[in-house]
Amino acid sequence: MNSRQLEIFLDIATEAALAAGAVLQTHWGKLEDIREKGRPGDLVTEADRAAEDAVLSVLKRHVPEHPILAEESGQLGDRQSEFLWAIDPLDGTTNYAHQYPFVAVSIGLLIEGVPQVGVVFNPIHQELFRAAKGLGATCNRRSIRVSSTTELEKSLLVTGFAYDRRQTPDTNYPEFAHLTHLTQGVRRDGAAALDLAYVAAGRFDGYWERGLSIWDIAAGIVLVEEAGGKVTAYDQTSMQLSSGRILATNGRIHDRLSAELLHVQAH
Ligand code: IPD
Ligand code: CA
Ligand code: CA
Repeated sequence: MNSRQLEIFLDIATEAALAAGAVLQTHWGKLEDIREKGRPGDLVTEADRAAEDAVLSVLKRHVPEHPILAEESGQLGDRQSEFLWAIDPLDGTTNYAHQYPFVAVSIGLLIEGVPQVGVVFNPIHQELFRAAKGLGATCNRRSIRVSSTTELEKSLLVTGFAYDRRQTPDTNYPEFAHLTHLTQGVRRDGAAALDLAYVAAGRFDGYWERGLSIWDIAAGIVLVEEAGGKVTAYDQTSMQLSSGRILATNGRIHDRLSAELLHVQAH
């Protein structure tokens, strides 16, 4: 894919993210319909649905032939296409419902299965993170880079706990405790797409999590890679989007964080 074409897709993703972000601003603090989707704590609101409609209408206008995988609508369109738009219209729904302003629209474009365009927009903080393969990463149009921290002991990390945590032994609690002990801190901020954007911006040095969906991470992966960071599976093999497991860092602490995660999992 040439860079001009990627820029066009990046602009479409940006238009969609801004449209959904405006919807999220409108509903902020005024939710009337908060429901659980099945698993305890897994919420959906009228804001999730309205923001998703806004994204879909922008994509349908510009790229009607492209298939979409959107959190609230599922798979739409031709499964054989080389393209797939992965959409989370509201990442951080629990935060949003509590008016904790760590929320985002996440729009990723996979080309031949590889995330190549990513936009993450926090409409409350008005921060727009954008990246496309080979074109770099920006926050509010200024170039961003991952941090330069080289020691795990001096790092600030972020992670999360999936909604299935009450049904699975793979809770991520032991990993959280172990790394809280070793580092300057581990945050749990509740929006995977923004966690990745913050790694890209050098605010966090690393992030790991399990139980994620493609729409949570497709955009953020492009941001981290284009900001000079590294994204793999926990064991440093190549990241499989369908595994739901991700290790994303500034690159410098990657070996050590991977080793610590594997150490916890072996015990
Ligand atoms: C969730 C957030 C959270 C992560 C969960 C996701 P949602 O997405 O990204 O940080 O821990 O696994 O499902 O439900 O707010 O879109
Ligand atoms: Ca999400
Ligand atoms: Ca969501």
